[in-house]
Amino acid sequence: MDPMRKILADWTQEVPESEIRRLLKSKTKYYLAGGLPGNLPTKIFPEILRELADYYDSDEQNVINEFQYGPTAGIPSLRKVLAERIRRRDKIDYISGAEDWEKILITTGSQQAIYIALDILINPGDIVVTPSPAYLGFVTAIVKKRGHVVTAPTDSEGLIPEYVEDTIIKAEKKFGRKVKILYVVEDSDNPKGTTLPFRRREQLYNIAEEHDVIILSDSAYKEMQFEERIPSLKTLDKDNSRVIYASSSSKEAAPLRIGYTFMPDRLHYEAEKSKGYLDLCTPTITQRIAELYYVKYIDKELPTILQKYKRQKEAAYNALLDTFPEGEYTNPTGGFFIWWQPKDEKALTFDVNKFNQEILLPNEILVVPGSAFYPPSGHSYDPEARKIEHLKVIRGGMRIGYSLLPKEMIDVGVRKLGKLLSENL
Ligand SMILES: Cc1ncc(COP(=O)(O)O)c(C=O)c1O
Repeated sequence: MDPMRKILADWTQEVPESEIRRLLKSKTKYYLAGGLPGNLPTKIFPEILRELADYYDSDEQNVINEFQYGPTAGIPSLRKVLAERIRRRDKIDYISGAEDWEKILITTGSQQAIYIALDILINPGDIVVTPSPAYLGFVTAIVKKRGHVVTAPTDSEGLIPEYVEDTIIKAEKKFGRKVKILYVVEDSDNPKGTTLPFRRREQLYNIAEEHDVIILSDSAYKEMQFEERIPSLKTLDKDNSRVIYASSSSKEAAPLRIGYTFMPDRLHYEAEKSKGYLDLCTPTITQRIAELYYVKYIDKELPTILQKYKRQKEAAYNALLDTFPEGEYTNPTGGFFIWWQPKDEKALTFDVNKFNQEILLPNEILVVPGSAFYPPSGHSYDPEARKIEHLKVIRGGMRIGYSLLPKEMIDVGVRKLGKLLSENL
């Protein structure tokens, strides 16, 4: 018996350590696991740091002002820049940098933003509907906050609106509780890499209105799009009453840990309060670096970066087509991940955890097993029975990350993976 058990909070026993954090520690030659950005503006960051150093050096007062606690909601200049960026990038035309910048909340990574959404909305037992499978950092956080996860089925375009609506209706009936949040990653979902067509975004928005559910639109991969962007769900929320939009700079500038949200005013007020308890404020200095990066450099740098990711994705996808056994897979138009799962019952029974440890690791390959993208407890909607059942885990699925390695290494690694899969499935 663990002697600390008596004093630890219950959630520590209910929520296991993240599988991805564990895998991030492994060093393998063909690393197809964590979504680490491999293409970074390496020349630009030293330039920004030199520019900032000159500014701090020019007047002592600058240092005193900058090396301080900042406002909990973030420094105004960065909030203005990001309000303008989401207006242009995501076509959210009812926000403007000049007038509405106070509606932007800077967070320490978008992980903090999605945790805050749970913190301000979820009472014990409240239901959150998520895709199946879904971003691990969110689904486990729901259980930590004592919420109740109900997963809804997805296909190669992401959440299926008809099933989402039935999930909401049946879950509310079965558990006698309100569905509070519908969690959506519209662009290049993690782990499946799917992007919701605009028609589905509209349908999901209408369903959320009809059933009075808040949509959490996790837009972590917004900058990492290889094709023209589809207007965000937030564009439909003209009176800013239903959608929490959360985005991040992490995929293009990971070490800064800058996330940002645009949400209904009342929720923004509570979110700022919640953030105050988590970290008082996001470091001022990283906000300043982000501001310079967004104002002066990002638009010049991104096309080259995106071209590289796209080639890496193509290398992974083509190697998969050539070597994998029969299965279902995605062909992402952005982001860092391809999803593959075997056909039929093997999707539920093939143990990718074991395959990773016993076969892939000795061959210097690592992927993330599908089972990592489910909460430790919860329920699932079964589209055949049209019922809410016990949690259904696609154990035989795997997330293949193509973001870190050069395309030549990805080609070799994914071909080896395909061969080993064919021999072992
Ligand atoms: C879908 C999704 N949401 C949120 C996050 C957290 O991002 P951040 O690094 O901004 O905290 C990630 C990180 O991988 C992610 O994949």
